[in-house]
Amino acid sequence: MDKISSLEEIYDSNLREYVFTEADFDRIKKLIYKHAGISLSASKQNMVYSRLARRLRANGLNSFHDYLNFLEKGNPAEWEAFTNALTTNLTAFFREQHHFPILEKHVEQRKNQKKIQLWCSASSTGEEPYSMAMAMVQAFKSFTPPVHILATDLDTNVLAKAQLGIYSLDKLEKLPKDNLRQFFLKGKGHHIGSARVRPELRNLITFRQLNLLDENWPIRGPFDAIFCRNVMIYFDKPTQYKILKKFVPLLTPDGLLFAGHSESFQHATDLFKLREKTVYELANKRR
Ligand SMILES: C[S@@+](CC[C@H](N)C(=O)[O-])C[C@H]1O[C@@H](n2cnc3c(N)ncnc32)[C@H](O)[C@@H]1O
Repeated sequence: MDKISSLEEIYDSNLREYVFTEADFDRIKKLIYKHAGISLSASKQNMVYSRLARRLRANGLNSFHDYLNFLEKGNPAEWEAFTNALTTNLTAFFREQHHFPILEKHVEQRKNQKKIQLWCSASSTGEEPYSMAMAMVQAFKSFTPPVHILATDLDTNVLAKAQLGIYSLDKLEKLPKDNLRQFFLKGKGHHIGSARVRPELRNLITFRQLNLLDENWPIRGPFDAIFCRNVMIYFDKPTQYKILKKFVPLLTPDGLLFAGHSESFQHATDLFKLREKTVYELANKRR
C-alpha cells in the first residue's frame, strides 16, 4: 500500500489492534533517530502505529514491546523493513521546477569536460534522478550525454521501484507531452495505465543504497552537482551540518548543491553560501 496516502494513518487510536504506549513510541523515536537521523515529532504517533502494526502482523507478534525487543536483537532484514516503513518518500517529476534550467545551464558550461557527475542523494522512487536525466538529454540534445547520475536512498523499497522505472500514467500527467513521448514507453496489455522510462534514460543512472547518516559513504566524487532535496527536513541541525561537511570534498570547486524548498543551510555558512533560491555553492572554492 502507498505509505503516503494510507488512511489508516489517521484513524482513531481507540481502534488499535495492538497496545502502543508512549514508552514504545519513545523507543521507536530513539531507534530511527540513531539509525537514520529521522526526528519524529509527537504528531507522527498514528503514522508510526499504522506503518509498524504491519510489521507486527508480518512477524506474528502481539505487542509493540515484543516487536521492539525482536528488532533490537539485531535481525538485519527486520531493520531494513523497520527503516523502510518509517521513511517518507513523497516526490514528483520535475519537483521544484526552477532547479532544472539551473542544472542545465551549469552542465552546458562544462560541455568540454570528459564526464559530468551528478549525485541525487535522496532519490526516493526515482522521479528526481529521471528528471535530472531528462534535463541532461535535453541539455546535450543526445540520449548519450557524457553524464553519469548516482542515485541513492536509504529505503530499499523505493530504490527497487526507482530501478524498475515504471510509473502510473497519473504520476506522469504533469509532464509536458513531448517529454512523455520522448522518454517513456507506454504499457500495453497487462501494463496498460502505466509507462516505463526508456532504457537510454535508465542507463544514465546507477542506483545504490546509501544512508546519509553513515560515517563512511562508499562513493567517490567529485560531483558537479549534488541534489539533496527534501530530506534534510527530517534531520536536526547538527546532523544536517555533519552531512553538509561531508558534501564539501565530494563537490568540484564550482559545484552546486540543490536543496528542498523549505530547507536552509544558514547554520552552515562556513561550508556553503546561497547562490540563488535553494541553490548553494561552496563557501570556500579554493580547497
Ligand atoms: C520526501 S523524500 C524526497 C525525495 C526527493 N529528493 C524529492 O525531493 O522529491 C525523502 C527521501 O529521503 C530518504 N531518506 C530518509 N532518511 C535518509 C537517510 N538517512 N539517508 C538517505 N536517504 C534518506 C527517504 O527514504 C525518502 O526517499
